[in-house]
Amino acid sequence: MSRIVYVNGEFVAEENAMISVFDRGFLFADAVYEVSSVLQGKLIDNEAHIKRLHRSLGELNMAAPATDEEILRVQRALIERNNLHEGLIYLQVSRGAADRDFPFPSNAKSSLVMFSQAKEIMDSPNAKSGIKVISIPDIRWKRRDIKTVGLLAQVLAKQAAIDAGVTDAWMVEDGYVTEGSSNNAFIVDADGKLITRHLGSEILPGITRASVLQMVESESIVFEERAFTLDEAKNATEAFITSASTFVWPVVEIDGTLIGDGKPGALAPRLREFYISNSLARAV
Ligand code: PDD
Repeated sequence: MSRIVYVNGEFVAEENAMISVFDRGFLFADAVYEVSSVLQGKLIDNEAHIKRLHRSLGELNMAAPATDEEILRVQRALIERNNLHEGLIYLQVSRGAADRDFPFPSNAKSSLVMFSQAKEIMDSPNAKSGIKVISIPDIRWKRRDIKTVGLLAQVLAKQAAIDAGVTDAWMVEDGYVTEGSSNNAFIVDADGKLITRHLGSEILPGITRASVLQMVESESIVFEERAFTLDEAKNATEAFITSASTFVWPVVEIDGTLIGDGKPGALAPRLREFYISNSLARAV
């Protein structure tokens, strides 16, 4: 059965969903996006995702395509119409369609596309086994804090990981890990201190990252937000990633080097459990 998707005010079957060839998202990657996860038919951390959407829009001088209430209404309608129990709701806003020219068009209306994607998140095997990653140079532009659809560097990073027989890639700049191809990176040092890169234009301010750090703080776990080197990561006692589509996955190997004993550490599974119960309690 085909999905029902949302395109600029209408719910249509996916095979009938259309966007202009002049859409600036298509021509220039002049578009931003958000991914909210769905558990038990409910949106996880959605308010924070919408807040970040506004930030991305603001940084690019793009108009909001709908009110927050309207966006939430469409998200819920997609969950219901597609019978989505577990998975993701994807949302993309572009600057709209206009003759191809670089400056902002004066008359274009921003476009809004949303769709659901079923995905096993709770019982993902990677959450139990942990994943292996490779490191790769971070070749992205300098405003990674804006969640744009210009994701070619991440596509190449993820493909390089798959070609190397592992699941993901950690991107490295000047010897320091920035983040995973579509997730934030964390390590635990020999003293048990949790370390994740500080926010800035070098990384995306992950919503899951923020929630996990809040829990870490409430549990009085010692943590530090600072850049860490690839060598520090390889010598860590534990490593993991966070994102809306994975929550928390342990990282057990980097470039063939085992992290700790090569098995998921103690903290990642704990934070994952904690995140799931905490965010489900707040789900809408
Ligand atoms: N990716 N860093 C990057 C580069 C990302 O693309 C993502 C999310 C994150 C984690 O952010 P959050 O916790 O808000 O999902 C960090 C999404 C899931 C994606 O592109 O599919």
